[in-house]
Amino acid sequence: MTGSDAESFSSRDFRDALSSFATGVTIVTTTDADNNPVGMTASSFNSVSTEPPLILWSVTKTAQSAPVFKAAEHFAVHVLATDQTDLSNKFAKSGADKFGDTSYSIDAAGVPILDNIAARFDCKTWQIYEGGDHWIIVGEVLAIESAKKEGLVFGGGTYAIASPLTTPKQNGEAEVGSTDLVDNMLFYHLSRAYHQMAHQFHEEVRNKGLTVAEWRISASLFGQAKCTLSDLASRTFLDPISMEDILSAMEEQGLCDLTESNGIRVAQGTLKGHKRVEDLINLANENETSILSSITDVSPDVLKSTLKKITNGALNS
Ligand SMILES: Cc1cc2nc3c(=O)[nH]c(=O)nc-3n(C[C@H](O)[C@H](O)[C@H](O)COP(=O)(O)O)c2cc1C
Repeated sequence: MTGSDAESFSSRDFRDALSSFATGVTIVTTTDADNNPVGMTASSFNSVSTEPPLILWSVTKTAQSAPVFKAAEHFAVHVLATDQTDLSNKFAKSGADKFGDTSYSIDAAGVPILDNIAARFDCKTWQIYEGGDHWIIVGEVLAIESAKKEGLVFGGGTYAIASPLTTPKQNGEAEVGSTDLVDNMLFYHLSRAYHQMAHQFHEEVRNKGLTVAEWRISASLFGQAKCTLSDLASRTFLDPISMEDILSAMEEQGLCDLTESNGIRVAQGTLKGHKRVEDLINLANENETSILSSITDVSPDVLKSTLKKITNGALNS
């Protein structure tokens, strides 16, 4: 859909189009008038100026913490690392006790500082502009901290990691960026194998009129499976807010049912939802069989159980 005036697209179309612009993920913190720590997840962070060093982010006027940020003299923007999706989700829940079991300290300006982040910008509020339903907060950067950790990425409604694009090898041509050292790294090959397979398969998903996020949810609920929303978020790597948006739209179309039992929200696939991704599931299985049939020196089951051990080990470490 294209359009030049606000009437020609819905807010959902607008959000969908924006979601193709990947960003990092930050948590912005400050303190309220009673010295309570306040913070929220924000992906609207961006650089503005180098001289003086200025950054901006925008806060929705309906956020509980919006008045606190509007009044704050100082705030800190924490750029989250790839292993901080849980922290991101925690700080994206409105009004929740975000600092209860979060490790943090208070800096000289009274701002809560979170641990283990990729980078931090300590700011003094420079200017606040009205931007429709958001406040645009520009901060002058007084100090920075950089842990040189890999930053978490957010795009298409899902958390991701950034990995460099590699060009396919032409006949007889040396691979760009390839060295003997890298060629011997298991994780380099795991990452390339995943990206190569996902790139091709996601084309098929889009050809069927689904987004990758819708595909991941539908595949997880395939066969009318039941899943708690928190399990579904960690299986699909989706942030809970975007995921609930997609689930509500899917429920309206009869593709899943959303229920609640003992305060726990559960999603269940429907027959219609099952049928919607049946072809893609078959294609995924055919692709897998075809790729694995060319591997004769290791059994597919051994390969899968080895990969499961690696992912479980990485999750538990
Ligand atoms: C990845 C991600 C990015 C977000 N970015 C923003 C943002 O830039 N600005 C904003 O106002 N809300 C953003 N949100 C939503 C807020 O984090 C959410 O509304 C939060 O509950 C506000 O907290 P509060 O109501 O306790 O102040 C984002 C949420 C997620 C998961």
